[in-house]
Amino acid sequence: MSNNRADLIVGLQWGDEGKGKIVDHMAQTHDYVCRFAGGHNAGHTIVVEGKKYALHLIPSGVLNPDAKNIVGNGVVLSPADFIEEMRQFEDLEGRLFISDKAHLLLPYHAEIDRARERLRGGRAIGTTGKGIGPAYGDKVARVGHRVGELSDPRKLTRRIMDYFAMNRPVFEAMGVAIPSETELYRQLVEYKEALEPFITDTTLLVWKALEEGKRILLEGAQGTMLDIDHGTYPFVTSSTTVAAGACSGLGIAPRDIGTVTGIAKAYCTRVGNGPFPSEDFGEEGQRLRDNGHEYGTTTGRPRRCGWFDAVAMRHAVRINGVDRIALMKLDVLDGFEEIKVCVAYRLHGEEIDYVPYDLEEAEPVYRVFPGWKRCAGARSFEELPVQAREYISALEEMIGCRIGIISTSPDRDDTIVR
Ligand code: GDP
Ligand code: IMO
Ligand code: MG
Repeated sequence: MSNNRADLIVGLQWGDEGKGKIVDHMAQTHDYVCRFAGGHNAGHTIVVEGKKYALHLIPSGVLNPDAKNIVGNGVVLSPADFIEEMRQFEDLEGRLFISDKAHLLLPYHAEIDRARERLRGGRAIGTTGKGIGPAYGDKVARVGHRVGELSDPRKLTRRIMDYFAMNRPVFEAMGVAIPSETELYRQLVEYKEALEPFITDTTLLVWKALEEGKRILLEGAQGTMLDIDHGTYPFVTSSTTVAAGACSGLGIAPRDIGTVTGIAKAYCTRVGNGPFPSEDFGEEGQRLRDNGHEYGTTTGRPRRCGWFDAVAMRHAVRINGVDRIALMKLDVLDGFEEIKVCVAYRLHGEEIDYVPYDLEEAEPVYRVFPGWKRCAGARSFEELPVQAREYISALEEMIGCRIGIISTSPDRDDTIVR
């Protein structure tokens, strides 16, 4: 086994922390960028010299022409959406690889997702409606289909028709349409034609890259608080979003992982439903939304906004073994008179400093910091106003982790590396 290790990037909050920007930033010095979990529920916006790219499934390393990009087995892949996303780029051949073991997310998964959400009524999760839960559900129930099966569309059509036959009553009760055999076959042939040149055993590819001393970056999607096990269940996504997911989602060992960079916003957002103790329902929450343009990349939904949650952050730092944090969107706090940080929760009359089984009734205990005028566009730590530097030091102390990167605008270059 080689001593070469892969660097990992992981979201520490409820997603949308700005992972795409840092992956793109770090991809400039990496040979491989690998996605290991999630699907096109992810939305990563990257700005390079003023031009904006929206990525969902293609790894954010695609903007570095020299980097190879891997979609690992832990991902659920919607061929139709993937093919659409590929159109943004030319000459992907030879620098994009899709695992034959990734699971297929097909149009009926999205229909089931939306039907379930409708049936949940007031307890809806607020999913992206992309079919993520049903696709992972089928995988775990061992009735899913893998990307490798696209090599024989005739056989795959038959298998999926069998699956429909087995589930017909459920599909009918939910009002989910079953495509005809001819229609399904036609679609699968189309997917095969577009994707076949990219499908391979990506586990072998990553092993080889590790052995050859290549610099590898593992790109997480979603965030720790959306993790299927460690997030705010059931208001989570259906994958292992934390660092451990990189091992199973690519086929590598824990010892293959090197530096872990955790991505966190200088405040907090969440899309969809579920507990969010430091949410701000007032004017300041709205101001965070306006300043931070907090509207989803994938669904356009307004994101719920609130304050940095140091309790949830400590939980995330521990679970992921974070070596350094990249603190994003510090500029969004520019001009606030006061900045709050959630330092503990009050739960059933008690003050606690950990994430409990159920966050629903946890109330935030805040510490208030003085604000600053402007840090937008700063490219060195010294350029930051003293209050911003003090805010960062206080966060480091509360979380017990170094903040090694600070981001002060969406642009690739407005990034401070300490
Ligand atoms: P991801 O899902 O974690 O990759 O994050 P998203 O791309 O969904 O959301 C982050 C948004 O914040 C994107 O629109 C980025 O362009 C933007 N962004 C990233 N870093 C900064 C920053 O430091 N300041 C500001 N103002 N915007 C940023
Ligand atoms: P990135 O990679 C923010 C949320 C959805 C919903 C819950 C379940 O851009 O950070 P799903 O469709 O996955 O079944 O929805 O998870 N969610 C995200 N929120 N960023 C994401 O990805 C998300 N991916 C899923 O809003 O609350
Ligand atoms: Mg996003």
